[in-house]
Amino acid sequence: MLSTLDLQKMKQQNDKISMITAYDYPSARTAEEAGVDMILVGDSLGMVVLGYTSTIQVTIDDMIHHAKAVKRGAKDTFMVVDMPFMSYHISLEESLANARNIFQHTDAQALKLEGASSGVLNLTRHLTNAGIPVVAHLGLTPQTVNVLGGYKVQGRDKDTAKKLLEDARQVVDHGAIALVLECIPQDLAKIVTDELSIPTIGIGAGAHCDGQVLVYHDILKYGINRLPKFVKPYADFNVMGKEAISSYISDVKQGEFPLDAHSFK
Ligand code: KIV
Ligand code: NA
Repeated sequence: MLSTLDLQKMKQQNDKISMITAYDYPSARTAEEAGVDMILVGDSLGMVVLGYTSTIQVTIDDMIHHAKAVKRGAKDTFMVVDMPFMSYHISLEESLANARNIFQHTDAQALKLEGASSGVLNLTRHLTNAGIPVVAHLGLTPQTVNVLGGYKVQGRDKDTAKKLLEDARQVVDHGAIALVLECIPQDLAKIVTDELSIPTIGIGAGAHCDGQVLVYHDILKYGINRLPKFVKPYADFNVMGKEAISSYISDVKQGEFPLDAHSFK
């Protein structure tokens, strides 16, 4: 398994970091067998595998339930787990207790927090001091989609770009080990990546980041109908799955399955 130091080294050697989300045992096994560097148990699981309309409904118990399954499927891969909506904003005490709960029960290597508010920065420092590595997440932060006004590219104008760079410096100063940059212009991602000592992992943030992350089900077109512009699908499980299941149904109806080969004497 990679360590946080290995990730830092990869940045220095311009060795790109590959990251993919996973939400259960089979997706984790497949990702690990394919050789991915890092797995993210994202709160995107709310939309991708639970059918919610946003990440806001996702609970701590959801995250623990799915992350435990992921770890069972990918024991040797660096696993980052999202802290879900409002689980790290009420008080420092409660945030620390929630982080401990997730970290201890899932055997994660790091937790991911969105944003760089004073509370999140303070928590990043406390978690780091306590031995829980933190991955930061800036740009489009889906847990605050209702404040941002939609899923839109962030940091497009001078002021918001400047703010993002300042936030990025702050998360490093408070101990973050890596930074996810979501949906920002590639030029801004390059500036942030060049300046920071920690690896940046982009999604919709162009080619200059130190690594890339995509959602498992987006890469495979698996249960997803509309893909965002920044996704490149590498398979079409929707079509493959529907064809396979249709063939099964048809075989059952026509008495073509099961045959002797599938039956016991
Ligand atoms: O939840 C998630 O999948 C994420 C990635 C998009 C970075 O946070
Ligand atoms: Na997330």
